[in-house]
Amino acid sequence: MKKIKFKIYTIVILFLCAFMACKAKQKVVAIVPMPFNYPDDIKEAEKPLFLTNYTKGQVLYGINCAKCHNKTEGGQNTIPNFSLPQIMDYEIRFQYPSHEDPMKETVISPEELEQIVTFLRYKLPS
Ligand code: HEC
Repeated sequence: MKKIKFKIYTIVILFLCAFMACKAKQKVVAIVPMPFNYPDDIKEAEKPLFLTNYTKGQVLYGINCAKCHNKTEGGQNTIPNFSLPQIMDYEIRFQYPSHEDPMKETVISPEELEQIVTFLRYKLPS
């Protein structure tokens, strides 16, 4: 009798764990893009791809850049409004000594850097 009870408890706990793991996964998927402007010359059909790249760039920025570049102002974590020449310049990978290690091609691929630049360029200024 004891053994059966133990088994039932184990099954219930396993189900609970699986349920919670499912819930946790759903949370990771839901990323809300920050307010942005579409590029002026974008075609309607290109908008979904733009939005995907923008959102990926937002996440990649958070992982790779925010720890050095975000500032805390009045308790709020803010992203700098880089000027266009600063972010248009694909040399940002090499231009600044501080980027040598965190921005190697093995850490951030050219495609990922382009997505980060898309995010920084088209997000509304904060
Ligand atoms: C280890 C800290 C660090 C990380 C990580 C980092 N940066 Fe920087 N970045 C700096 C510093 C410090 C400067 C100022 C120039 C210098 O000293 O090299 C700078 C300069 C810049 C500039 C030029 C404008 C300015 O503020 O001077 C841009 C644009 C920039 N970084 C973007 C990025 C992006 C995009 C990422 C992520 C892909 C990133 N940085 C990751 C430290 C960092």
